[in-house]
Amino acid sequence: MSHPDWRLPLRRVALLFVLLAPSAGAEELPIALAPGTGRETVQASCGMCHSLDYIVINSPFQDQAAWEKTVRKMVNVMGAPLSEEQVQAIVAYLSQHYAGL
Ligand code: HEC
Repeated sequence: MSHPDWRLPLRRVALLFVLLAPSAGAEELPIALAPGTGRETVQASCGMCHSLDYIVINSPFQDQAAWEKTVRKMVNVMGAPLSEEQVQAIVAYLSQHYAGL
């Protein structure tokens, strides 16, 4: 009578853990943007390609003009699907809350 091979299921569990660990960790630390008009638009529009961290990390080097340039680059170069109203709302929100210059 052969002993059941328990090593395979164990390895699967270990692999699953490795695969799930990074995303589970990211969910524990969501980027909480400052409350204010336009925040929902920013969260929905600016988090689809990269982390909202980019906003926080770049904020010391941005003023309103720089944010406008960045947001338009996201639309024109990166392909963010945003209307002119959304661009305006996002630039207004970012320059009020995340302009460190
Ligand atoms: C269609 C995908 C996409 C969307 C949507 C998007 N970005 Fe980006 N963003 C990129 C890419 C690609 C880069 C450059 C490559 C990288 O560093 O990951 C980038 C880089 C950045 C940077 C780093 C500085 C720079 O100019 O490269 C900032 C800041 C930034 N994005 C902010 C935003 C904001 C604010 C929004 C919402 C208006 C946004 N992004 C939406 C794709 C996107």
